Amino acid sequence: MPLPDMEVDAGIIAETAYAKVNVALHVRARRDDGYHALESLFVFADHGDHIVASENEDGAIDLAIDGPFGEGLDAGPSNLVMRAARALQSYLGTERGAALRLTKRLPVASGIGGGSADAAATLRLLARLWDARIGQDELAALALDLGSDVPACLDSVTQMVTGRGEGLTRHSVDGLEGMPMLLVNPGVGVSTAAVFAGWDGQDRGALDASSLDALIGRGRNDLEPPARAIAPVIGDVLAVLGEAPGVRLARMSGSGATCFALFDNPARMAAAASLCRAHPGWWVMETGVRGV
Ligand code: C5P
Repeated sequence: MPLPDMEVDAGIIAETAYAKVNVALHVRARRDDGYHALESLFVFADHGDHIVASENEDGAIDLAIDGPFGEGLDAGPSNLVMRAARALQSYLGTERGAALRLTKRLPVASGIGGGSADAAATLRLLARLWDARIGQDELAALALDLGSDVPACLDSVTQMVTGRGEGLTRHSVDGLEGMPMLLVNPGVGVSTAAVFAGWDGQDRGALDASSLDALIGRGRNDLEPPARAIAPVIGDVLAVLGEAPGVRLARMSGSGATCFALFDNPARMAAAASLCRAHPGWWVMETGVRGV
């Protein structure tokens, strides 16, 4: 189970950076600013990366990284956790510092918002550590500067997301929250910019998120074809998940390469997880759709 967002030791606070999943992602248009106008239903998993923070008396911001996907990850100024911390520190004009530790449990560059969730969790964590007086709108603006998916990750609840990622509306779908959800990554990272650049420019219509049936039957991920062209192994994951007994939906998340599958019961999910673990190099996580 993820760590609860609470005091874990004197002066040390913790947050979970929940994995994000796009149940459907419709690309509607290419914008003049180089981004794409999207319509997407975001849900969050019950699991994610972990971040802990404590006060750094000298005012510096330090980052240490561990965890199964921590190796080789840059802990310098380009890391989204560092960028989020520095952005908040400078916005607040505070001299207070922080010692941060990121436990990286989610694969990087994988379409489930690992870096975005880390940035959002850092903003939440440091706003608490520094007793910041900052409104939700100000925090959302800082978040959008860090990346398109970061504002949605601030709340980590089911949301309809429009525009580049700034249009956020809480949205609940009967039967979706609490569903067992399997995440599978074939061990390849794909570049978000490269996948968007491969979109064919064809608007295939609006997203109907009024029910689970509509999301399953008429929802799409328009980034699946360009992602599969870059990493054909995504098709292998989708084939295994799509044929798993009891699967309700198998689809790619975000710009890939992580795919997800929704099930009605945990035993079916566990059986599908075993099938996936038989493939060397595939990363498999059994989780669920996070409720509010
Ligand atoms: O905003 P973020 O830095 O996460 O986006 C990474 C890249 O993904 C952008 O530079 C852009 O090429 C692409 N992107 C896009 N449309 C979006 C979000 C991201 O084209 N709505």
